[in-house]
Amino acid sequence: MTPEAIVLVKTSYAAVAPRPGLLAARFYHELFIAAPGLRPLFPGDLTALQGHFEAALSLVIRNLDEISALREPLRDLGAQHVHWGARPEDYLTAREALVAAIRGLAPVWDDALEGSWRRAITGIIVPMLEGAAVQTALVAEELAADQAK
Ligand code: HEM
Repeated sequence: MTPEAIVLVKTSYAAVAPRPGLLAARFYHELFIAAPGLRPLFPGDLTALQGHFEAALSLVIRNLDEISALREPLRDLGAQHVHWGARPEDYLTAREALVAAIRGLAPVWDDALEGSWRRAITGIIVPMLEGAAVQTALVAEELAADQAK
């Protein structure tokens, strides 16, 4: 992302996340409209998860200029998501749900801002997918080793 796009996203984030929980609530709302089948993977009460999600998102947005420093924790988060049942295609659904949630709360919006947000979120989901892929390969190796015994 260009430094200008990073500034756009950071400024926009400050405007859409003034009330704790609001952005995450809209995100899950959009996610379950787009993919109702994902709802059973999540706990019935989303309150705690909304807090975790917003904490993670705000940490990433604050550090967008050095996102590579967050690659390892994001890979770990992606590996955890394999156990929770997230599939690669779900990340694209989640990205669009998050863009829709942000668009719904943003006081100003245009194509350039939408593109910048999509790039920022892609920068989060790529390391998560990498972590998921490594986790999946490890499970496959363990299974293969078990079978060889
Ligand atoms: C932008 C991408 C995503 C981010 C930043 C994200 C972030 C998070 C965070 C921070 C947590 C809480 C972790 C914890 O409590 O330790 C979480 C939990 C979870 N996420 Fe995601 N997530 C993303 C995408 C997805 C997708 C695509 C799915 C698809 C199914 C998903 C399903 C879940 C589930 C099921 C949980 C656990 C709920 C529980 O506590 O049982 N996430 N996510």
